[in-house]
Amino acid sequence: MLEVRNLTKVYRVGFWGRRVDALSELTLEVETGRIFGLVGPNGAGKSTAIKLFLGLIRPTSGTGIIDGHPIGSPESRRRLGFLPENPALYEFLTAEEYLALAGSLVKLETKVLREEADRLLELVGLTHARDLAIRKFSKGMVQRLGLAQALVGDPAIVILDEPMSGLDPIGRKDVRDIMFKLRDEGRTVFFSTHILPDVEAICDRVALLSKGRLTDIGRLDDLLSNRVRAVEVTASSLAPDLAERLVKERSGRAQGEGRVLVSFPSHDEANRFVAEIVAAKGTVESVVASRENLEDLFMRRAEEAKEVARR
Ligand SMILES: Nc1ncnc2c1ncn2[C@@H]1O[C@H](COP(=O)(O)OP(=O)(O)O)[C@@H](O)[C@H]1O
Ligand SMILES: [Mg+2]
Repeated sequence: MLEVRNLTKVYRVGFWGRRVDALSELTLEVETGRIFGLVGPNGAGKSTAIKLFLGLIRPTSGTGIIDGHPIGSPESRRRLGFLPENPALYEFLTAEEYLALAGSLVKLETKVLREEADRLLELVGLTHARDLAIRKFSKGMVQRLGLAQALVGDPAIVILDEPMSGLDPIGRKDVRDIMFKLRDEGRTVFFSTHILPDVEAICDRVALLSKGRLTDIGRLDDLLSNRVRAVEVTASSLAPDLAERLVKERSGRAQGEGRVLVSFPSHDEANRFVAEIVAAKGTVESVVASRENLEDLFMRRAEEAKEVARR
């Protein structure tokens, strides 16, 4: 389990030491065996949080624990695998040589290492490319090899910084499938992203980060469930003058003779409209409520952050 409390990182930049609040008071828990997504736009503090978890940088304040060991300690690091943002792999090595190098860094024995390399290349679908130099890899292949590297040494928690960025849809699906496999093996997967459809497709839990601050955390369903974005009512068999009025006065969309679609911001308003249609002897064909999606929530938080900045 990974747990951090009030984790904070302040950078000082430039000659005058201008203050950058990269991460402020981050508190969260990541349960074992789940896929957890840290979501936020560029500059939100995702990589900073990840570097703190790994002990690559020291927090200004706050604490964290990984399976009972403080973040940054050798014991906590031993439990982690890490795929950095834009991994720079040694291009002149082959896939197998690269994994051997990664394995030697975590001090695996040669025999264990060989079996491990076989297993990992198979897992990420690179067995056919084991003897190919990395410089001949596609971006998707590089990312999959990076994932294999993160898994050397059998880590309980795998931390991936923007694992899908720069990949085409097939590459993204490959990475996604590998993340599912890791979770199904009982590992904890923690990843950061700014690509929202990926989050909706794979996360058990998400945390939204905006300008270094956590704005939302929980199961995606729970974060989005109670917000209706719009309720669309389609009515037909309407008298021509009524249909025309709906288009003019309620920005309805005409959909053929006597048939109009009208959108409402809430169920109440949609219900009143349905009653009007019934009273006018029209037919209510459908009432469809569309829920807020992650992108809507994301944009709402970005707007709120701008509001705060303006004040
Ligand atoms: N080494 C650093 N020195 C100074 N500022 C930094 C440093 N690393 C990151 N930052 C700043 O911290 C903020 C968060 O950056 P980062 O964690 O990389 O965001 P993300 O990964 O979400 O894009 C940004 O404003 C960034 O410019
Ligand atoms: Mg980043």
